[in-house]
Amino acid sequence: MIILGLETSCDETGVALLEDGKVLCNKIHSQQIHSRFGGVVPEIASREHTERVLLMTKEILKENKKTVGDIDGIAVTYGPGLLCSLLIGLNFAKGLSYSIGVPFVGVNHLEAHIYSPFITFDEYSYPFLSLLVSGGHTSIVKVSGFRDYEVLGSTLDDACGESFDKVSKLIGLGYPGGPAIERFAQEGNEDAFDFPVPDPEALDFSYSGLKTSVLYVYRDISQEEKVHRIPDIAASFQKSAIRSLIIKLKRAMKMTGINRISVSGGVSANKRLRKSLEELDVEWVAPDKEFTVDNGAMIGFLGYKLFRQGVKSDFSLKANPRLFLN
Ligand code: KG4
Ligand code: ZN
Repeated sequence: MIILGLETSCDETGVALLEDGKVLCNKIHSQQIHSRFGGVVPEIASREHTERVLLMTKEILKENKKTVGDIDGIAVTYGPGLLCSLLIGLNFAKGLSYSIGVPFVGVNHLEAHIYSPFITFDEYSYPFLSLLVSGGHTSIVKVSGFRDYEVLGSTLDDACGESFDKVSKLIGLGYPGGPAIERFAQEGNEDAFDFPVPDPEALDFSYSGLKTSVLYVYRDISQEEKVHRIPDIAASFQKSAIRSLIIKLKRAMKMTGINRISVSGGVSANKRLRKSLEELDVEWVAPDKEFTVDNGAMIGFLGYKLFRQGVKSDFSLKANPRLFLN
């Protein structure tokens, strides 16, 4: 079964082609244009998706020596995300589905992240814990069966990736912040600044206080230090942000007795996080780097599972910017 996977929920246009659940090709266009504004501008994002999605679909078919006639099903993100971005992918999927006469299925972006490690690695048996860390979400989810979720904790304010983005903007490293912070942190001393490690109630997360601590430190250092101590600030911030994730994971394992962890979403690309997971000495898995940020392959991968269970969507499906799990 050939599936076209489409992702346009935020500022990445993702188009992928899969055959029987195996990724043939995964194309991601990250919209750099937003970096000059320090964050995603929704209207610009949707214009870029409009320009790219058809072009990328044509390219991916051509490069894989396929035609639209070879597509058996279309999987598309229908939430959560920016409404005007979601609408581009969803309406494109509906139009294509109608014109070539194949079914389409709407995929929950968060669920697609949760299953994304298993594009590459053997699928876990249930139950397992999923740490979902992206620009829009930070949650620990107990996954007891296929699509059987219990959200054990979520962020009370900023998402983890969002805090990387905000701190990066604050210290002049630009957008997206995660990769920039990680790069500068490699040159810095992570013990240089004693930023707090956020640990609110139980399994909830909070990143706004940490961000404010960085803001105060940065505001109060001299102009010269502002230039030279950026790597130290980046490293110290990264250490606190990641320690918070690890504290919560340890607590979740203790509370549930589940010692199998899957980590996904944009922040799961972070090497410092992966090193900390390694040190935990438990069974853990994270996606291949290309499947950490938003991509069409993870949408197609979950879409394939849904099609196999007989799930498909009809044309009345609406984009849902606030879609969550269950
Ligand atoms: O999953 P994703 O592509 O989009 C959402 O669904 O939100 O995640 C994007 C987020 C951004 O906040 C970005 O700064 C963060 O993931 N990110 C990282 C790294 N790479 C991307 N954060 C920390 N370290 C990284 N290496
Ligand atoms: Zn995402």
